[in-house]
Amino acid sequence: MKKNAFGKKGWTPDRIENLNGQTYIITGTTSGTGFEASRILLSKGAKVVMLNRNPQKAKAAIETLKEKLGNHIDVSNIKMDLSNQDSVKDAAQIILSEVQHVNALICNAAIAQVPQRKLIEKDWESQMGVNYFGHFTLQALLYPLLEKSKGRIVTVGSMGYDMGIKTIKFDDLNWAKDYTPNNAYSQSKLAQIMSIYELQNRLKEANKSEVKAYACHPGSSRTSLISTSGSLMMRIIFFLMTPLTQSAEKGAYPQLMCATEKDLDQTAFYGPTGRSNWVGPVGAHKLESHAKDKEVSKRLWDLSEQETGIKWNI
Ligand SMILES: NC(=O)c1ccc[n+]([C@@H]2O[C@H](COP(=O)([O-])OP(=O)(O)OC[C@H]3O[C@@H](n4cnc5c(N)ncnc54)[C@H](OP(=O)(O)O)[C@@H]3O)[C@@H](O)[C@H]2O)c1
Repeated sequence: MKKNAFGKKGWTPDRIENLNGQTYIITGTTSGTGFEASRILLSKGAKVVMLNRNPQKAKAAIETLKEKLGNHIDVSNIKMDLSNQDSVKDAAQIILSEVQHVNALICNAAIAQVPQRKLIEKDWESQMGVNYFGHFTLQALLYPLLEKSKGRIVTVGSMGYDMGIKTIKFDDLNWAKDYTPNNAYSQSKLAQIMSIYELQNRLKEANKSEVKAYACHPGSSRTSLISTSGSLMMRIIFFLMTPLTQSAEKGAYPQLMCATEKDLDQTAFYGPTGRSNWVGPVGAHKLESHAKDKEVSKRLWDLSEQETGIKWNI
């Protein structure tokens, strides 16, 4: 096994220095890794702008964070539902008018293992629509601010990228045929990762090295992911797997590393490096080649601009 660049324990938030004056935007912070990442960034002095679909849950998360860290923390929520493109556009508009500088946009929110095929607007399959197209639009709209800020885009993917059909089902993107919760979730997470590497290609071609883009995943972490959208059977399976999982806090480390660590290689894939990449010291680890298939990722990008009607201004 390759040596971990951060030593035996791997990357930990001890490496984060004082973040006073820095701003991080994170999607999906009401629970799980997004909540933990927010907590750690705030504890280091950063300003955190949360993007959540449920204002009550966001308010509760902010109250909990204030109880833990004190009333002085600089945290706010903007309502954004990734399943609704207008909501994403409205949230982006607010950010562009109110936030002057962003160190990193962390695309963390997701739904997973939706039991029955469900279509959202534009007839997108729900996991593809929320996890992938929602974040694609958000990233594209915030790109000018990220460029001005020399900031980062961090996508929280999943080892699911290497499950399912391991490519994009271009002839049936929304699973009219052969829907399974896992295949559809896996495609959405693969699409999220592929678009990050494709973004890197496009930035390089345009000689724009100032914005950095990273892909990572939280391993197998104890969060609300399956209880929010998975079937009863999935919830039972995940409950039985609990001894093999890690805390939500540890699950937040890869995204924190990608958002804050200096001189991090963009071309790598980051997550736990222990058993099955579910747990263990955080660092770079193997990425299967299908996630960087240039032909597929270019086609996916062009299709995504068409589907969302949003063109990146790179
Ligand atoms: N946990 C794991 O083992 C695991 C494994 C692989 C990858 N991941 C990835 O890790 C990331 C974080 O997930 P988690 O495990 O921390 O799950 P989680 O606890 O369920 O957190 C997911 C967050 O996403 C939000 N969200 C869901 N749908 C949304 C929408 N339409 N618009 C805006 N926000 C929405 C949720 O908000 P609500 O409170 O409103 O539902 C919640 O804040 C995801 O990208 C997931 O795919 C997790």
